[in-house]
Parts: sequence; structure tokens; C-alpha cells
Amino acid sequence: MNILLIGSGAREHALAWKMDQSALVDVVHCAPGNPGMDKIGPCFDVAADDIDGLEKLTLQIEPDLIVVGPEVPLALGLSDRLRARGFDVFGPSAEAARLESSKGFSKDAMDKYGVPTARFGRFKDLLGAKAFLDTMDAPFVLKADGLAAGKGVVIAQSRKEADAEVEAMLSGKFGEASSELVIEEFMQGEEASIFVMTDGEGALYLPAAQDHKQVGEGDTGPNTGGMGAYAPAPVVDDAVLARVKAEIVEPMLKGMAADGMPYQGVLYIGVMVTDDGPKVVEFNARFGDPECQVLMAGLTGDIVPALLVCATGGLKGNEDAFGALMDLEGFQPAATIILANEGYPESYAKGAVIEGVEDAGTVDGVEVFHAGTDIDDAGALIATGGRVLAMTATGADFDEAFARAYQAADRLNWPTGFCRRDIGWRVRKT
Ligand code: AMP
Ligand code: GLY
Repeated sequence: MNILLIGSGAREHALAWKMDQSALVDVVHCAPGNPGMDKIGPCFDVAADDIDGLEKLTLQIEPDLIVVGPEVPLALGLSDRLRARGFDVFGPSAEAARLESSKGFSKDAMDKYGVPTARFGRFKDLLGAKAFLDTMDAPFVLKADGLAAGKGVVIAQSRKEADAEVEAMLSGKFGEASSELVIEEFMQGEEASIFVMTDGEGALYLPAAQDHKQVGEGDTGPNTGGMGAYAPAPVVDDAVLARVKAEIVEPMLKGMAADGMPYQGVLYIGVMVTDDGPKVVEFNARFGDPECQVLMAGLTGDIVPALLVCATGGLKGNEDAFGALMDLEGFQPAATIILANEGYPESYAKGAVIEGVEDAGTVDGVEVFHAGTDIDDAGALIATGGRVLAMTATGADFDEAFARAYQAADRLNWPTGFCRRDIGWRVRKT
């Protein structure tokens, strides 16, 4: 079969790499792809937010399955358009993807379906927002309603800071995305990312992962898209997972279907494991990046049948069979370290040459996934993005996986690249 994969990050490189290993797959076409994905299948120069262009490309290629990596095309309705053309798509409708693209919608849905999450209010005006803050204690969690590339959440430590931030957001700090705010209570606990593949009814649970959002060691400094990740995350033990299934996933899937917007694709649940059990921090409508890299690396079986059944329906009651094809039982401890460009997540220079990527990829158990890379006119690999490479490794245990990923990172010759050295501190012994 032929697949069309949308996106250009290390998440998509990992998906392309994994799908390409399937005996069912002939070609993985990518749009727009990146220099790493280019080695797997043909890349087409159509941006992930150009949904007219992507529809045209799909009609040309006629893939048997389309896998949508990032949130923006989902929010723009790419899945709906391609389904209307008769294609099988792994990725939710624009309406269902509002679980990510509108935090207010997402909180209302949780409220309606009785899913545990932080107490919240939705506001378009300063007075209402301040009156709600009067009912809460610090720290205050302030969220732009719309998509803000992972930057739309501010945790204010004092009321003064919260007031200033609410004013800034409502007056356009994140553009249209912050014309409405969600204000919510701060939840104490340990965070994890849970990924559920679903056709709208059935649910297939991948091993839980954890990522490190902050740029600095010791989980300090500004938030990024994610500086590293690992799976399986021990904090999500059988008891927590059972509650996530019963209290979060089942009511969400049932509720969304009953309200005429069945959720098809992967539901990413940002969970806070609190003393009162798991509560939802956020939903995303896609795989996490960098969590996807460790999930694809750790899975030893074939993920393509599961992607396909989520797109076409028929998962319910057959979860064990699809889980066995993926070899969920045989999942290997996996780690990924993000190599980022000096200055990230603020501004950074583009164009520095990166050497040693091939050598890094020869370390036992390592795959190097590309994100913000390009090839310059002289044919050299250069850094063009904030997050640039994901050194991803499996091992017999986390210590071995992390040692391999860092060994690979150390083989790079790229003076303006950096990584955090403490990724996985919760699970590493060395
Ligand atoms: P979000 O984009 O909603 O995931 O928020 C970004 C990050 O802010 C999350 O990954 C959490 O670390 C933190 N966060 C968001 N909401 C809360 C909350 N209600 N309580 C504690 N931390 C939160
Ligand atoms: N790793 C966080 C995200 O993908 O949103």
C-alpha cells in the first residue's frame, strides 16, 4: 500500500521510519518532509498548512492511507476534505480536533462528559477574568483558547503577575488565539502523556511517555516544544491506567460520538497524576513530539494495521489483535534527546553546518530523526529550525537507552547545537 504522511518534524520522520518497515507498505510519500524523510520516500514541497495543495497532491498520489502528523492541518479541516473525497485518513475531523484547537471547547467537553480536570472558567473580558481570579489562590493557570504553537499557557505565581498576563493576552499577546482565555486551577502532581489510537469507538493504548518541556536542566527556564522524552513512564502504572480508561477515555469517546463528532486518530492526553487520581491537563489531536519518537522506536511490531483500522473503523473488540501486531508486550525502553539550535526557544540563527549525523546513527540501537534541518547549495546538512535533531535509542533498560542516545549526540560536530544532559532524570540510575 501507499501512504501519504503530512508534516516535517522529527515526529513525522519517526512515523515514516516506522511505517516504512511494514511489510504492507510500498511507499511512504511525505509532504513536505525533511532531509531525513527524503531518504525513506519521496517528499513533495507542499506545506502542512496548505490544505488546498495537500488535497491536490492526494488526488494525484491516490494513497491508500493518509496520516496527518501536526495539529494545524487537522484544525483547518484536512481530514474532512480528504474523507469527503473517499480517502482513508488517520486524524480527526476539524470539529473533533477542537479538543486541541480550542481549550475552551475542550474544557466544556470534559465538563459535559464528567471527565476529571482542573476547575476552570472561560473569559473574553477583563472584568470577568479578574472576578474569577478573586475566587482562586496562586499559582494561576492562564491559557490562550486557540493554537499558539505550545506557548499559549502561562503559570502566574502571583495575583499581580496574573492580572498583567490576563491583560496582555486579552489585548492580543497571542493574536486571535488569546481573544478568549481559559483560567484554571493549578494541579499538583506528576505529568505524563498518554496516547490512545481510536476509530471513534475502540481504543488502543500505547505505552505512556513523559517529556521535558523546559529548556533548562532541572526542568527550568522557558517552555519549548519538548527537549526529550522516554517511554514507558513508570508513573502510569496499571492502577492509574485503569482510571484513565474508565474516567477519561471511555466517557470522552462515547460523548464525542454521541454528540456527532466521533474522534478518529490518536488522542493525546496530557495527564496530571494527582493524589486524587489522574486528571486531564490538556488534549491534543495528534502524536506528541518528542513522545512519538520514543513510541515508534520502542515498538517492535507493525503499527500500520492499527493506523489503518483507526481510519476505516472496526477496532472495537479487536484491540488485542492490533496490539499484538504492534507487539505492545515487547515494547523496549526508549529515550530521545532533542538537539536544539543555540538561542531556542527564543531566536536562533539558521544555516550552521552539522557534521557527524551518519556516524551518530551507527551507535547501537540509535535512530537519528530530523526536524529543523535542510541541505544547503553545497550539499551540506544545515540547521534551520529550533529543534533540529532527535537522537533516539532503545536499550535493555533506560540507562542503556539514554547512554546510547547521548553517545550519538556526542558524535555530532555542530558547535551551536545543544541538548539537556538530564533528560530522563526520573528513570535513570546513571
Ligand atoms: P498545556 O498546553 O495545556 O499542556 O499546558 C502547558 C503546560 O502547563 C502543561 O504541560 C503543564 O505542565 C502546565 N499546566 C497546564 N495546565 C495546568 C494546570 N491546571 N495545573 C498545573 N500545570 C498545568
Ligand atoms: N511534547 C508536547 C507536545 O507535543 O505537545
